[in-house]
Amino acid sequence: MNRKFVTLYRHIIEQERIHPDATGELSDLLADIALACKLISLEVNRAGLIDILGFTGGENVHGEQVKKLDEFAHDTLVKAMEVSGHLCAIASEESENFIPVSEKFMGERPMSKYICHFDPLDGSSNIEANISIGTIFSIYKRISKSGPGTLEDCLQLGNQQVAAGYIMYGSSTIMVYTTGEGVHGFTLDPTVGEFLLYYENIQTPKKSRTYSINEGNYSKWDKNLQSYIEYLKAEDKDKDKPYTSRYVGSLVADFHRNLLYGGLFMYPGDKKNQNGKLRLLYEANPLAFIIEQAGGRASTGKHRILEVVPLNLHQKTPLFIGSADDVLEAEEFLRK
Ligand code: AHG
Ligand code: MN
Ligand code: MN
Repeated sequence: MNRKFVTLYRHIIEQERIHPDATGELSDLLADIALACKLISLEVNRAGLIDILGFTGGENVHGEQVKKLDEFAHDTLVKAMEVSGHLCAIASEESENFIPVSEKFMGERPMSKYICHFDPLDGSSNIEANISIGTIFSIYKRISKSGPGTLEDCLQLGNQQVAAGYIMYGSSTIMVYTTGEGVHGFTLDPTVGEFLLYYENIQTPKKSRTYSINEGNYSKWDKNLQSYIEYLKAEDKDKDKPYTSRYVGSLVADFHRNLLYGGLFMYPGDKKNQNGKLRLLYEANPLAFIIEQAGGRASTGKHRILEVVPLNLHQKTPLFIGSADDVLEAEEFLRK
């Protein structure tokens, strides 16, 4: 069905109508996130022209150098979310603790019923190279009854998410989101400043011929993983092998390509970091919600990502995500 000129907001409202008891708050929240990301997109696209490249000189909770754009994206999202009045807490990769949204921003609402996790800028090491980077978000309903949100509100199982998505700042700016009713993609038309629907109900191929992993870590991998990667590279016409390797080093870019074309993205644990590098709450969980809605699969290599119990805000997890049959095959090798 050709859904020309369906704006993101129109689509969100249509999704809202599927739930007669919906209050419209989630729709407004998603629109607020989209607005914040349009502002981030402007800065990302101008980054080379204004003094916003490079480092702030600070370090984040992960001991990583913070880029000025990381900080700009974080600040923009926090400001937009605080005034949206729909959140009682915000958690971000760039903030050690979660940010309880105080009553003053709650407006007349007795309580703001959502919490949101953000990776404000994913892949930020690639900014200067003009490689696609992105913002990832994950939204839950609060558990606590009222007032500013709590840590318990922020540490929920991924299968409790009510919405998740990402915005990718690349050759064009695109937004992909799900509220549990399928996965939908939009492209920002800068002339009108609207995200326009370009891909409704995205379904990822069940099987692929592409794998994405940082092979520089090969020597640190578990033996079973090493043999799985060798297996993917071995010639076997019946099994459509060898696979192609595609790895940008920007999770949102690698994930989006694999979502559309099929593929298996892996960031495994290794001898040095047994839980790998990616974070459960604002990288693995939102993408796992999306990939499952698109018919794919996401696991730690052993357990379903959406059932991993979060113990802290920046908890890491191994991640195997993408075409369902490929993830299952990887899990089989890891069980040997
Ligand atoms: P972030 O920029 O939010 O810290 O995320 C970077 C992540 C992710 O984007 C990417 O998949 C991964 O780092 C690449 O890590 P390696 O360079 O170790 O492969
Ligand atoms: Mn990231
Ligand atoms: Mn980041």
